Amino acid sequence: MADLKCTDLCMTFANQQTGAKVEALKDINFTLKKGELLSVLGPSGCGKTTLLNMVAGFITPTSGQIAVGDRVIDGPGADRGMVFQQGALFEWLTVAKNVDFGLRMQGVSEAESRDQVEKWLATVGLQGFADTPTYQLSGGMQQRVALARCLVNDPDVILMDEPLGALDALTREKMQSLVLELWKKTGKTIIIITHSVEEALLLGERLFVMAPRPGRIHKEYQLPFAEWGLKRSLRDIKLEPEFSTVREEILTMIWNMEEEIMGGA
Ligand SMILES: Nc1ncnc2c1ncn2[C@@H]1O[C@H](COP(=O)(O)OP(=O)(O)O)[C@@H](O)[C@H]1O
Ligand SMILES: [Mg+2]
Repeated sequence: MADLKCTDLCMTFANQQTGAKVEALKDINFTLKKGELLSVLGPSGCGKTTLLNMVAGFITPTSGQIAVGDRVIDGPGADRGMVFQQGALFEWLTVAKNVDFGLRMQGVSEAESRDQVEKWLATVGLQGFADTPTYQLSGGMQQRVALARCLVNDPDVILMDEPLGALDALTREKMQSLVLELWKKTGKTIIIITHSVEEALLLGERLFVMAPRPGRIHKEYQLPFAEWGLKRSLRDIKLEPEFSTVREEILTMIWNMEEEIMGGA
């Protein structure tokens, strides 16, 4: 069982202009069980991207530890896959060449990787697009490619930093359903960062609301909506009184945090 465990995680940056210290994260502790779906919300600058980049192994914490199962993370690895915001694909390459990138790096032959690529393209709804140059695809389709590119490497943990932020509302809703579908189908552990309270509620069995200065987990929720979303339309769920109640509570919480930030600026 590859649980993801963060223990006493701290990250302090030095501001490049002033040299002043920024506590991007302080004392972050949590364990995600295999297959859990976590969404992370919080005002700009509260350390969401820093947290994700540390789990990915792109940056090393000032202190504390991250482990996947028994392995302590000390850099990027194939056990953790990242889906970035739109625009992180090799646009001049075909869909297949984008998706099989990780496999080719591992030395898997083109013939062998082709089967894998076809399988994952079908799963994300892009059957028949293997040989299309990526720049010809819509934003939503490009994010489907990004998901397939991540899944083909069979990571234990999938990390997404505002992956749907650049999409129009309708496409975004379809992609939210796809994320839930993939979560159910693959049983992967997923962390998704988002700016949208609604998205965080829909795409998190657990939800962390983070606060800034220092970046920390302010409040945690356990939510039923992701499970509901596997069987019901997301639009329906958003109309439920239970959904609106938590949405309003969190909106107020973040509003107050932002007021405080503005007040202190
Ligand atoms: N490489 C860096 N050097 C200096 N400060 C940084 C660096 N990366 C992030 N920070 C600071 O750390 C804090 C958290 O940033 P970030 O994780 O990007 O927040 P979020 O993703 O929640 O908007 C911010 O104050 C930001 O300015
Ligand atoms: Mg960010």
